[in-house]
Amino acid sequence: MAVAYNKRTHRCGELRASDVDQVATLSGWVHTVRDHGGMAFIDIRDHTGIAQIRCTDESGAAFELARSLHNEDVISVVGKVVHRGEFVNPKIPTGEVEVLAGELDVLSRCDALPFQVNEEKLETSEETLLRYRFLHLRRPEIQKVFRLRAAIARAIREFFNDNEFIEIETPFLTKSTPEGARDYLVPSRVRPGAFYALPQSPQLFKQLFMIGGFDRYAQIVRCFRDEDLRADRQPEFTQLDMEMAFVQRDDVMEMVEGCVKRIFKEAMGIDIPTPFPRITEEEAMKRFGIDRPDTRFGMELQDITELMKEVDFKVFAEAIGAGGVVKCLVAEGAASLTRKVTDGLTEEIKGIGGTGLPSVKVGEKDGAIELTTGIAKFLQPMAAKLCETVGAKPGDAIFFMPGTFADVSKYLHYTRTQLAKMLDVIPKDRWDLLWVIDFPLVVWDEDEKRWFSTHHPFTAPIDEDVALLDTDPGKVRDKAYDLVLNGIEMAGGSIRIHQQEVQKKIFTLLGISEEEAKEKFEFLLDALRFGAPPHGGIAFGLDRWAMLLSHADSLREVIAFPKTQRAVCPLTNAPGPVAADQLDELYLATKLPPAKT
Ligand code: AMO
Repeated sequence: MAVAYNKRTHRCGELRASDVDQVATLSGWVHTVRDHGGMAFIDIRDHTGIAQIRCTDESGAAFELARSLHNEDVISVVGKVVHRGEFVNPKIPTGEVEVLAGELDVLSRCDALPFQVNEEKLETSEETLLRYRFLHLRRPEIQKVFRLRAAIARAIREFFNDNEFIEIETPFLTKSTPEGARDYLVPSRVRPGAFYALPQSPQLFKQLFMIGGFDRYAQIVRCFRDEDLRADRQPEFTQLDMEMAFVQRDDVMEMVEGCVKRIFKEAMGIDIPTPFPRITEEEAMKRFGIDRPDTRFGMELQDITELMKEVDFKVFAEAIGAGGVVKCLVAEGAASLTRKVTDGLTEEIKGIGGTGLPSVKVGEKDGAIELTTGIAKFLQPMAAKLCETVGAKPGDAIFFMPGTFADVSKYLHYTRTQLAKMLDVIPKDRWDLLWVIDFPLVVWDEDEKRWFSTHHPFTAPIDEDVALLDTDPGKVRDKAYDLVLNGIEMAGGSIRIHQQEVQKKIFTLLGISEEEAKEKFEFLLDALRFGAPPHGGIAFGLDRWAMLLSHADSLREVIAFPKTQRAVCPLTNAPGPVAADQLDELYLATKLPPAKT
């Protein structure tokens, strides 16, 4: 096997007809090798693409070596670039030419592969792909994702650099930074029994930068959250975190719009119009049942509580009698959905805690509206009025939900999303950016019987609502803003509390005792005593931007070495056991749950 080898003159994807007659040296992986007896063809691949190498009797030793190659061996080839004549391959950029091998070196051999890197469509399990991620990363479509991710990060950095933000690093070994998840803890060796927490975000540090006089800070930074994983959540993920002093909500939102514009322009070549539309959380919940609506399609939720008071249907009457609502959505053309499909959807609603999904199909008989299936018999007497009110026409289906506002929102949001997929009404390549504002500052948790912050405890209340903090906290709106793209929360931020008294009041409202506040946040309360400027900021989920812009289905596709749903890294097998002496050194012992039989 060659140790010294020729320096490459071209990258594999670069060769063109204009290079004919040049001597080229290429290095890369064997993508395929085809042995035609008197002739062998190698497709050699690197990150730029593929070139064809032809080996004939005239290639001497290279010919025999070529015939011994396997996919993913690493080789270096020297040869003359020639035109392919009638055998031009228009499907690849280098398809007009090939390299006639003169010299061939094998730089590294590849063992039997767990999956073929060159396979058109991989059927391999995700576990295996992640176990051999270094092979998976070689695939051109995966390479493309990470180059896009890097382009997004570059656009962000350049934007913040151009706008006088300063990048400063914040600690990883720190104290709990509450963002609503569990902490990842790191035991201290030198203070037995004490633990650091990995930051859920640099929230408090960036506020301290403003108090420290930096005016504008931005950092691309890793955050750690021990929470239930979903397709759009990872235990460690990357934020673009920023903060600005002496600003109002509009200033931060405008800055973010500039940054998003730059991301789309530089990473995607797309001009995104600004400013982005704004919607209050209250309106979003009413119209879409969720505070991060996907506005690429209609099927909005409609409140028909008043109308349904006229109907003799026990289920609706009970919900209304209990102070609840009845809402519905009209799915255009959904009368054609089969019973199996609508029953399936009903089962899914039950699966997420609902009791069912009443529906009717809208038809026409003798020139009049006729409702069929589901709860049609209860609604037929007011069919025309119902359809006129909700804008339904023959061929559509109407899905209903009675219950509390929260339950109705949850189940109809789910229904809307599933129906949109089934009916294929979500436009491809459309980017609907939307600000959601005026969230409730706090929400009541009936189980724990206490208030929780909608965002985090450092979010400022809207000025005119401050007086309500003492009398009706649930009515207080906050100065937060979430940026939503196609129904996914891409960034969240707020104007912060910069007065110690207000911050203390919020801690009290959240049931954080003075002692606890002192123990956890004394440094912040201190800082707020010594001249804190008004400030605000935001954090973007960088992984989510990469996921959406590359049309990936999961964050796992856009993180180089991601964790599985069970927070395990199949490549390194982390988390794993540690040696007893390591635990001793940290004064730790494990107390495991009883083994499952
Ligand atoms: P927030 O908690 O909303 O705000 O987080 C900001 C953005 O980070 C992304 N994100 C995640 N991405 C992947 N996996 C996760 N587990 C995960 N959790 C959050 C989302 C989200 O919009 N300190 C505040 C920001 C601020 O107020 O300035 C914060 O962290 O895209």
